[in-house]
Formats: sequence, C-alpha cells, structure tokens
Amino acid sequence: MSILTVTAVNAQQKLNPEIEKKIDILMSKMTVEEKVGQMNQYNGFWDVTGPAPVGGTAEQKYENIKKALVGSMLTVRGVKEVKAVQKIAVEQTRLGIPLIIGFDVIHGYKTISPIPLAEAASWDLEAIEKSASTAASEAAASGINWTFGPMMDISRDARWGRVMEGAGEDPFLGSKIAVARIKGFQGDNSFQSPLKIAASAKHFAGYGFVVAGLEYNVAEIGQNTLYNQVLPPFKAAVDQGLKTVMTSFNTLNGIPASADQYLLREILKNKWGFSGFVISDWASIREMIPWGFSKDESAAAKSAVEAGTDMDMEGGIYLPYLIDLVKQGKVDQKYVDDAVRRILRVKYELGLFDDPYRFLDEKREKEIVGSKANNDAVLGMAKKSIVLLKNEKNLLPLKKSGQKILLLGSLASSKNSPLGSWRIAADNNTAVSVLEGMKSYKNNTLNFVEGPKLTHEEPTFLAEVHYNTTDKSGLEEAKNAAKNADVVVMVLGEHGFSSGEARSRTNIDLPGLQEEFLKEIYSVNPNVVLVLNNGRPLTINWASENIPAIVEAWHLGTQAGNAVAQVLYGDYNPSGKLPMTFPRNVGQIPMYYNDYATGRFTDKDGNVFWSHYSDAEKTPLYPFGFGLSYTTFEYSDLKINKKSFAKGESAKVSVTLKNTGKYEGKEVVQLYIHDEFASVVRPVKELKAFQLITLKPGESKSVEFNLTEMELGFYNNNGDFVVEPGSFKIMVGGSSETELTEEFELL
Ligand code: NOJ
Repeated sequence: MSILTVTAVNAQQKLNPEIEKKIDILMSKMTVEEKVGQMNQYNGFWDVTGPAPVGGTAEQKYENIKKALVGSMLTVRGVKEVKAVQKIAVEQTRLGIPLIIGFDVIHGYKTISPIPLAEAASWDLEAIEKSASTAASEAAASGINWTFGPMMDISRDARWGRVMEGAGEDPFLGSKIAVARIKGFQGDNSFQSPLKIAASAKHFAGYGFVVAGLEYNVAEIGQNTLYNQVLPPFKAAVDQGLKTVMTSFNTLNGIPASADQYLLREILKNKWGFSGFVISDWASIREMIPWGFSKDESAAAKSAVEAGTDMDMEGGIYLPYLIDLVKQGKVDQKYVDDAVRRILRVKYELGLFDDPYRFLDEKREKEIVGSKANNDAVLGMAKKSIVLLKNEKNLLPLKKSGQKILLLGSLASSKNSPLGSWRIAADNNTAVSVLEGMKSYKNNTLNFVEGPKLTHEEPTFLAEVHYNTTDKSGLEEAKNAAKNADVVVMVLGEHGFSSGEARSRTNIDLPGLQEEFLKEIYSVNPNVVLVLNNGRPLTINWASENIPAIVEAWHLGTQAGNAVAQVLYGDYNPSGKLPMTFPRNVGQIPMYYNDYATGRFTDKDGNVFWSHYSDAEKTPLYPFGFGLSYTTFEYSDLKINKKSFAKGESAKVSVTLKNTGKYEGKEVVQLYIHDEFASVVRPVKELKAFQLITLKPGESKSVEFNLTEMELGFYNNNGDFVVEPGSFKIMVGGSSETELTEEFELL
C-alpha cells in the first residue's frame, strides 16, 4: 500500500454508519471553500499561547466565520464568548456547520490540578482519570468542546521544560496514564454527558526527544526507541477511542512532524485505524518554511495535507492556499475530503450538530467552574502527587503542637507559582500558598520570613523568568530567625513559569541564590525540611547529602498549600514515586532507568575500560519509581508459579509486602522484566506492572501479578510486535532499583 493511500478507517476505531451517512450528505453540498474552511482553526482574540497570531485581526476572523471559512477556534472561553462565535457559525453561514472549540486544558481549567508530571508521581490511575474528568467538567461547562491534551511525550531529558506536561520517562506508565486521562476527558466516548470533551494526544511525535533538551529542536530517533518508547502511549490512546491527535513542532529524522506521511498516514491513520482528525501545532505548518522543508506557503500546505494534517492551527496556510491548490489540481481533492470527513465526524460524535449550544449553559457554568467539589478533588490529587525523597532524624511528620516552626522562601508565600505553567483560565494568585496551608495548624508557633527574593519581577507566561542572583537582602533576617526555630521548612525550586513550553534549561540546579540560601540556613540550624517546587527533575546533590528531609511537591495547583501542609503534618502519608530519574548532573542526561547493559556495564576487571564517567558516578541521584513513606515496607518471598511457560499461557508472580513501620501507608509495588537475549537488545529493566497497596502497621499481604506474552514482547525495528522465546528475569520492589529477582523461561 502506498503511504499516500487514503484508506477507509479499519476496525480499531469503529465508525457509526448513521453519522457516516450524514457526513456524505453534508459533504455533497459543500464547496471547496467551505471544506477548506473546516480545516482552518483560529486563535481567539485575547490570550495567545504562541508567537503573534498570523490568522488576522479579530474583525477579519469574525468575517471569515461568517463566510464559513473557519472550522474551529481555540482559546475562546466562557459560555458568553463561545456562544457569540458559535452563533455566527450556526446562524449566519449557508450550511450552519458548528465550530469545535479547543482549549489547553492541561492540568485543570479554572480549578488547577497538579502539573501532569506530578500527577504521574501518584501512579494512581483512578485518581488521574478523576482529575482529568474534573478538568473536563469545568472546561465543558465553560463552553469548551475539546482539550489539547493529554501530552504523552515520553522524555528522558530534564533540560526540556515540557517534561512537566507529560507522565515522565516510561512508556508503560506513560501509556496507562494516557489512557486514564483520555477516559477522564472523553468518558465512555459517547458524549452523552455535556461534561465530557474530546481529547488530543500530543505531540505526535518525538517532541520529548528534542536534541539537547532544546525547545523546538530536531529529534533524531532510531526505530527501536521510536517503536518501543515514543509511540506506545499514542497507540494506547487510539485504542482507547481518542478523538484527535496534535502534531509536534520538531522534525523527526529530518521530516517536520506536520508533513510526516509515515507517521500520520501510514502508522496513525492506516495501520492503527485512527478515525479522528489531526491538528497541527500552533503554526507548525507555516514553520515548515523556516525549517527549510517547504519553499513557500503553498508548498507547506500541499505537504501537510497530503501527509494527513487535517486542521491548521493559527497557521493561516490552508485557508489562503489549499483552495487554489485543489482547484488547480495540484492537490488531490481526496486529501481534503479525508480531512473534512474526519473533522465533521468528531463534531457529529460530540453532538454539536444535534445541538451546537449543548455546552453553553450559564447556570451550569456558574455551578461547576471553581466549585467546592472541584477544589476537594484537586486537593486529593495534590496529596497523592507528593514524593518523600528523604526523611532522617524523624523530622517528619512535624509535631502538631509545641514546635517553633520557621517557614522560609518566596515560594512559600506564593499564591501564583503553585498554579504551574498551563493555567490560562485560572485567575492569578488563586492558589493556597504553603504559608496559608500551614497556618491552619494552629498549635505551633509559625513564623514566616521570605529571605532573598526568588525573582526580580513577578514571572508571567509570556516572558522569561529572571532569577535573583545578586540581591541577598533578607538573608540575615532569615538566619537570625532560623537560630531560634525547632524546625525550618524551606520552600525552594523553580517558579511555576520556569518549566513548560519554551523553558529549556542547561543547568537544573536550584536557580538563583537558593542553594546558597539553603547552605546558610543549614549552617545555623540543621533541622531543615526542604520542600521542592519544580516542574522537572533537579540536580540537588548538596541538599540530598546534607538536608535531613526533602519533600518533592512539584507545582500542585490551586490547593497546593493545603496538600503540602497535610503531608508535612502527617495527616496524609506520602506515597508518590518518581516518574522520572533525577540525575546527579546535566552531563548524565539523557538518563533513564530502562537503559542498556552495553558490553561493559560493570567494572569486572578493576581497570578503566568499562562503561562509566571518569568524573562522576553513573548512578542517578534518585531513580525512577523511587519514593519513601512515613512508614516502611519490606518485600519478601518473590515467586513465579511456573519456571517455564508457553506463548498463549500465563504465569502468576507473587510477592509478600509487609508494613514494618508505625503508620498506615500506601506502597506502589512495581514489577520489572528483563529479556535476557533478544534479536534486538532489550533494556536492563522494563516496567510491566504495578499495584497500589495500602497496609496498616504490621499488616502484610501477598501481591499477585499475571504475566502474559503481552508483557514479554517488544517492537522490532520494522515496527512489528514480536514475542521471542528465551529466558527472562523478573524484578519486584518499591522502585526501579529492586532487590528481589526471579527467572523463568518462555518456551
Ligand atoms: C503550542 C503547544 O505546543 C501546544 O501544546 C498547545 O496545545 C498549542 N500551542 C495551543 O496553545
């Protein structure tokens, strides 16, 4: 089959024959102009999420909606605003085709949930689904039909700012979380409920592998990594009934993603049978010109539509060029027809043709957006997202009375930074700060001193964050206060706008004066609890060696301060596990747990010729899957019920987990495999299953996993899933650095 074949969608995503019939009838009435209009998406008139819009002025955009030259709008929000544009499309155009309204609902809408990387640290698929569902309900109640999420870019590079938007480095966990989020957004895919919205899997593909972690850069990815690391979450998303896919800004092996026929046409649409539509990222079709791929706008339009990019986001390329290209026979009409059919299909599936105003109810908007129930939901998610990295000297949990506690750091009182990066619909300064959260524990003396300022000015979404590297005022006051405290809680890290799009960093230490601040305070009072706020792994080697207690609290959203306070005070026992490796230094990046043995993985001979660095350890600071609890767990008795089994059979793996500490606690029990010999070399460890187990002090439980060939196979370099007989190792424990191992044979 030629790559450019436009095939009927295969059985993976089932079509509704009634809808297909309606699309046939509607398309038979549409002019080429109206068809290309459906493929054109404009940004709204106020918020921008990229370089200045190219789609024209507000007046021109309104005019074009009236002329049926617009299929979708993004970043228009609120029932009133959405109704205003929808009414034009429905009531003033010849065919009255409704718009589909998109928005970046990435971690909450108005009530902000933890950043996606933080949520991934919960490993709690039910909670993650619920979080997406809460976000969907607020967005839908606000008139939004479609979110540009979830982002499912696997990434191993903490320099890349957008790791905050994904689920970390692992394709298995990433796929499970992608599916959970899609279920949360789309529900059962029937869209009977007006509180469900279409999801978009992004960014297709390879964006998490941009070279050097540099934003918008090239991605050079071999087949083994592409099929086994990058694509699995997207495949899982399609199988879950996902409605749309967004292309990525990067080139993949030299081809801009929006023109990648192999990815879009051959894999996504033909092989996987994806029936929804593909949207470009913001002006990414236009960007094929500066990339040096398309010589002009017309060439860009032709390459993108032929490759299978169905809708042009704020690129202003399809509308002015595609109509003529089709009329002159330079682009085969079948590509446009395929795109329009897909777009209309999603609009029909969302019920927009039955009632274009079904999402537009001001009463519902008032009841749902920012409700108490939604705040409770994001608080629950925030607590589950926290990872305890270190806890010595029993500093945590804090005692509930009789302690003098000093709280330090600009981030401790910030009501803005915890909202993270994607929070366009949230009002500034609406998060509960750590200071506010801790104040609700009234039986301790709480003193807050800011210390040296974190940034020179209050950071914003559209500007670079400038950290304070010079002004030490506030340091002495903080040190003096620290001398009299029983415990010092320091909230340090990155501002919420310091990770996310266009926030690549070459240095991932604590920015600005913060490490010096930490050392100075530690020198007068070593009882320091470090609470980290960050959107990516940080290199916190000194802190990790010296500071007795470290709590990874990411950017946790609207209820951040309450979540942190409840964990610090032991009202919630942390159970999060890192979804991304924390390296010791940037020179180790890309760093990931599922790496390869090499021919010389360990120092066997005591000489220098083995796979290592001469100037640093090759181990991570904190491995993937790592996280502590206020209690302790013991693993024992790992067993597999068969030493060998054939394809088509399954085996049972069991392990005993015991709570050996003083608190009730939850543990993420992780199972990894290693395929010892294969036709394509396999990683030393691959996560293949996990379970969340809650145990009371002293309680133990046998935890069981079912192992089938699905867990044992992999994609070969042709992209075929293969299961090869041979010997396998299984490893079970509370992080990727597990201790218990067993072996078996697949016959
Ligand atoms: C660019 C980002 O890459 C994408 O993720 C986002 O959905 C669009 N802008 C729209 O804001």
